[in-house]
Amino acid sequence: MVAMKINRVFVPLLCVFISGLALGTLLSCGSRASGNKAEPVVWETLEELLSQMTLAEKAGQMTQAERGDLLKGDITRYALGSVLSGGGSAPSSNTPEGWVSMTNGFMEESLNTRAGIPIVYGLDAVHGHAIVKDATVLPHNIGLGAIAAGDPQRGAEAAYAAGRITAEEMLATGVRWNFAPVLGVAEDVRWGRTYESFSENVNIVTIMGAGYIRGLQDSGAAACMKHFLGEGQAINGRNQGNALLDRAGIERILPPYRAAIDAGALSLMPSFSSVNGIKMHEHKELLTSLLKDEMGFEGFLVSDWAAVRQLSGSTYKAQIANAINAGVDMVMATNGRDNWVSFIKNLEDLVNEGKIPMSRIDDAVLRILRFKQSIGLFDTPLTTAAGPVGSSAHRQTAREMVADSLVLLRNERNVIARLPEYRRILVAGQGANDIGMQCGGWTITWQGMHGPITKGTTVLEGIQEATKGKATVTYAADGKANGTFDAVIVVIGEDPYAEGEGDRSTQINIRSNDRDVLGQAGGYKCPVIVIMMSGRPMTIGDEYNKWDAFIAAWLPGTEGGGIADVLFGSRDFTGRTPYTWRKTINGEIVYPFGYGLTK
Ligand code: GLC
Repeated sequence: MVAMKINRVFVPLLCVFISGLALGTLLSCGSRASGNKAEPVVWETLEELLSQMTLAEKAGQMTQAERGDLLKGDITRYALGSVLSGGGSAPSSNTPEGWVSMTNGFMEESLNTRAGIPIVYGLDAVHGHAIVKDATVLPHNIGLGAIAAGDPQRGAEAAYAAGRITAEEMLATGVRWNFAPVLGVAEDVRWGRTYESFSENVNIVTIMGAGYIRGLQDSGAAACMKHFLGEGQAINGRNQGNALLDRAGIERILPPYRAAIDAGALSLMPSFSSVNGIKMHEHKELLTSLLKDEMGFEGFLVSDWAAVRQLSGSTYKAQIANAINAGVDMVMATNGRDNWVSFIKNLEDLVNEGKIPMSRIDDAVLRILRFKQSIGLFDTPLTTAAGPVGSSAHRQTAREMVADSLVLLRNERNVIARLPEYRRILVAGQGANDIGMQCGGWTITWQGMHGPITKGTTVLEGIQEATKGKATVTYAADGKANGTFDAVIVVIGEDPYAEGEGDRSTQINIRSNDRDVLGQAGGYKCPVIVIMMSGRPMTIGDEYNKWDAFIAAWLPGTEGGGIADVLFGSRDFTGRTPYTWRKTINGEIVYPFGYGLTK
């Protein structure tokens, strides 16, 4: 069916020229959502559009399905409001062209409905559009936070650039909506999402979140601030755990959200976690009274991944009522097609039974429509052509972010300054030659993985570039090499992880293979420079006393060459640690928040 736009009138052509033959077409061109009603939808304002929508169409708009849980024609039949890619959920051709073909296909299905409301496609481009092969993968937020801890203005500029680059590569693939940035203030490094937070410092999170949102939205994509609220205050850093917060405790972590609203964010994701024992997804006082009424948030709330299923209530139907009545506007009904199909059925039944007032439904749908209009979906629903990802310009900017994010924690006898003089350098450790490890989670796949998973420059390659013609660089992943060296550079760190998979109940110890490499490095009787690539300060005990230099590189992303730019270049270290660094969990502080050497 071809839809024609006349002064915002979406008139399905086939439905206008009704004939005996077309009647069959008419019934098929409508969707389940509109039943047999085929009158054209004529509207000038969103309120007029809303007033003509059926309950089924409204329920469809409040439904978000994962791309893998759809059958051909579902979007039209149910007039779905949104489709997402969960972590790593990419089309078979994981290229800009493959993504544009997929997202345009979903969009055409959504336009092929009575109301013709365009779908919005969302995903987690949390450190660049890292789900797409050979895209630019930026430092995770912890690294950007290290820039800001050293120089807030420089940090805000980096956040803006990160948002811009991410938006440009998202739009190149037909994706408009990013489930980012995280505005949680991580306060316990045992939390697996510490690296998704900018810092333990609420002021840094505030300026970085707002900067990122402006960069993303000025470049045409839409942000989704997350996860509201208190995820970083959960007891013992447990992901999706419980935070004990009084009003002052809540006020203390609100500034990032206030600044994000001021920056124009028009969607928000509640947290899986709880506040004072109440799951955030059913916390009406915080989602509606505080966020929507008191803070004046006019955007919409999209639930987290099947989060409704975790709520109180003995049935899915009861859980849905709790979430929607608390203020959730769209439900990410994932983990199988049945979950979103039954969400729609249950939602309609709850309204018909008076358990969810139509006013709540209308408020939710109007917020969603307002969001879609604000990002231009009604005017330009389709992507005309795929664009590039991973351009040299983007990679160069990312490389500068990496350089700016490095934190020099120890530099005995000024060994770093002498690096360019050395002629025989041993580079050791798995992390020195592992793109996947330097990127961390949310890269190609949800959890990330080791190895050459996408195009980039490893730490080793950067060192080889920087010393070409000046020094001999030997690489030994296990640290075992013949010969004598002027210095050994050891790269240690964490295996890639995301979310709860990264939770630690006790210490965050150096991996055993890294400890072996460090042991080998000490045997060459020359300066040992340790670079840690991790999603948080690891519990290093007194190990660091054996190292001549110690640099935190966080999770730098694909442009590992930025590390050599500082090690062998003439510039100073400007990053400072965005987290307190302790020898053990809750133990002695070895490097306080904001610490870092310049040289
Ligand atoms: C995940 C995360 C959330 C993400 C969503 C969709 O579970 O909690 O941050 O946006 O699911 O991938």
